[in-house]
Amino acid sequence: MSTPEQGLGDSTRCVRAGVAPGAPGEPIMPGPVLAAPYHLSADEGSESDFYARNSNPTWRGLELALSQLEGEGSPEVGAAVFGTGMSAITVLMRTVLRPGDVLVMPSDGYYLARAYAAEKLVPQGIEVREVDTPAMVEAVAGARLVLAESPSNPGLDVVDLRALSAACRRAGALLAVDNTTATPLGQLPLQLGADVVVASGTKALSGHSDLLMGYLATADAELLGQVYRERTMSGVVLGPFEAWLAHRSIGSAALRLDRQGTNAAALAELLVRHPAVTDVRWPGLADDPAHAVAATQMSRFGGLVRGVLPSAEAVHALVAASELTTLATSFGGLHTTIDRRARWGDDVAPGFFRLSCGIEDTDDLVRDLTQALDSLR
Ligand SMILES: Cc1ncc(COP(=O)(O)O)c(C=O)c1O
Repeated sequence: MSTPEQGLGDSTRCVRAGVAPGAPGEPIMPGPVLAAPYHLSADEGSESDFYARNSNPTWRGLELALSQLEGEGSPEVGAAVFGTGMSAITVLMRTVLRPGDVLVMPSDGYYLARAYAAEKLVPQGIEVREVDTPAMVEAVAGARLVLAESPSNPGLDVVDLRALSAACRRAGALLAVDNTTATPLGQLPLQLGADVVVASGTKALSGHSDLLMGYLATADAELLGQVYRERTMSGVVLGPFEAWLAHRSIGSAALRLDRQGTNAAALAELLVRHPAVTDVRWPGLADDPAHAVAATQMSRFGGLVRGVLPSAEAVHALVAASELTTLATSFGGLHTTIDRRARWGDDVAPGFFRLSCGIEDTDDLVRDLTQALDSLR
């Protein structure tokens, strides 16, 4: 469980999160301890790291870091790491939902979570209700689990998490928030009243586009125990080397997110002003429909911006004309990337694109995308 480090800034907390106090002659971060010690002791009741699928010291360091970041100020919060964000989400669904239950999830959220619900949960007699993100507050009656995503991917819409958690409490529903796009440095759903956070750490939190990782965080010790059990039995585990790499990467998360946010602000303004682009959304834009709510619950607005060009070809022409961006579907990394979402089946226009701002210099990105957009005319 977490040890809050109150009063410290985000970067100070990130470089210290889950890291043992330094000792002379020892590395600042432990090396990748990998699986576990090979030997059992003769005391048969005493083993904790007897098999790496159950637990291992490298996971525990990362889980402590995630508990500290998601549970800021709340030592009861614990975390479980997984091989991917999808495994965190599906383990939660399998742990909580039974036939006859109702699951409410965003119609504009991550497509694979919706596909899992439709293909695996509906045939088991679980009712799945898809609702637009801002409207979720009015749609929780009768739900067992509400899985919100704010800002949603790729719509970048926002739901009022305080109002949603109050509605879930009244309805007796468990509220889980997918915190992938915001990260705990942009938003703390547990403090806003959510019961559970799930997230992909593959994106901005680890931030180097070089590993897959997911996690769940909650102050509900009983639920966390059930989640650990499901992880152990279903085997959806994180490799210890990825765990170490993710923990190492968290140290720079606040710096990366600050630069990504600065770049998102500049590029969102550029896209809004450019005649080739419509429907630009970034929760940090003062006139974005989600800004008023986002400003009450987010401390950073993130590095994702969306917009619409006239056609699929225009998106590809934009990337071809840009020297600093590439096509990629993951997001949150060091490099600025663009994804045309209709190719994955999202219910959006063919020219809908999601821009993931990297950590390049802002002026370079503005110059590059200005010339690339101008070349479309
Ligand atoms: C909002 C959201 N949640 C969950 C996931 C799944 O994460 P992973 O790719 O680590 O399984 C993604 C992946 O893009 C996502 O965008």
